[in-house]
Amino acid sequence: MMMSEFRRIGGELHCEGTPLETLARRFGTPLYVYSESSIRKNFKRFDKSFEGSDHLICFAVKANSNRAVLRSLGDLGAGADVVSGGEIYRASLAGIDPVRMVYSGVGKSIAEMEQAVEAKILMFNIESFSELKVLDEVAGRAGKRARISLRINPDVDPRTHPYVATGLKNSKFGIRIESVLEGYERARGLKNIDVVGVDCHIGSQLSSIDPFVEAVTRVKEVASTLRDRGFDIRYLDLGGGLGITYDRESPPPIEEFGSAMRAVLKGERAKIIVEPGRSIVGNAGVLLTRVLYTKKAEGKRFAIADAGMNDLMRPSIYGSFHAIEQVVEKGREPEMTDVVGPVCESGDFLAKDREMPALRAGDLIAVMSAGAYGFSMASTYNSRPLAAEVMVKGDRHALVRQRGSYEDLVRGERDPEFS
Ligand code: LLP
Repeated sequence: MMMSEFRRIGGELHCEGTPLETLARRFGTPLYVYSESSIRKNFKRFDKSFEGSDHLICFAVKANSNRAVLRSLGDLGAGADVVSGGEIYRASLAGIDPVRMVYSGVGKSIAEMEQAVEAKILMFNIESFSELKVLDEVAGRAGKRARISLRINPDVDPRTHPYVATGLKNSKFGIRIESVLEGYERARGLKNIDVVGVDCHIGSQLSSIDPFVEAVTRVKEVASTLRDRGFDIRYLDLGGGLGITYDRESPPPIEEFGSAMRAVLKGERAKIIVEPGRSIVGNAGVLLTRVLYTKKAEGKRFAIADAGMNDLMRPSIYGSFHAIEQVVEKGREPEMTDVVGPVCESGDFLAKDREMPALRAGDLIAVMSAGAYGFSMASTYNSRPLAAEVMVKGDRHALVRQRGSYEDLVRGERDPEFS
């Protein structure tokens, strides 16, 4: 069970010891609120699940890249799974040492590779032969060596939403299993490359263990074949992907994931790397938004909130479910409701056809499980400044990102000289 730090005290929803209504009054809405202790607890559960095996938990920065979140995790010894130069920059600013960073992604630019080589990151997870060649050149020019894994595409069905499945044959991610050995042989022939590991990541929001077991079994097989061929494989990177409960899903608890992985990897001497994102921060955050207006439509009511798809994109682009709770219970009768945002798109909704206690203008609502891929995917579409973010620790709280301003919206823009 995911332990939630969001609970009702006297009918009012709190984050740890802090009432959400107080935070909304103080900082305005839309507002992201994160529970520090929930983030810590989840990280520690991962760490503990791999206790006894040499391991490194590399938090997937894309899930939530707020500096304060990264700092909390870094302080606990987390590494980072990064996918861009920007993420290397953020994670470094938050105090995460680049020797604890692994760099994944199909489209690393030369500039980003240079930055990562210069920073001496732990390892590049290579996703194509052409990328491998370019990295060799970049490292050579810098007079350095780059440590690599190949990201193998194990062709395992993660049984998740097609947009977040990444380990199937037809996916753009990874190197197909048939070509992996050839890839490693090529890598061995390159002057500035050190082969150190095997990597995979099959998808996100997985709700069962089996696909992980299948994928990691392949990783282990590849590692063993490589060792037979004389490669020194020191890292096995299992990727991320463990799901959370948004609605009625029942993903395995972190502990079960850990013990299943350790069982497959029994006797393995390489360091185990995992790259969890959602399972650490997903249920540790909510998006607070206030109802601006309501109106009736065919058989339902629209509640128009001050947060929209630009603040939380998941419902619009994946049809994702996020529970919605009234921060202060009003005891109203349930009503069929669409909670929509102010953005000028029909796809701008936070909840659709939801039977929930009737909403009225002025109500504060919490969009639950919004700590992962919430703010990090936000945009300023419709010229809506980015939301503010608050971190709570017990009865204390801190503004960890101030609300975007109009100046922020136009930063860097200029009139052309020919105008
Ligand atoms: N490692 C790699 C190489 C990844 O691509 C990802 C996520 C992770 C780790 C972390 O996966 P997690 O533990 O968070 O499942 N925007 C989508 C999710 C996209 C996931 C992309 N990759 C969503 O909102 O559901």
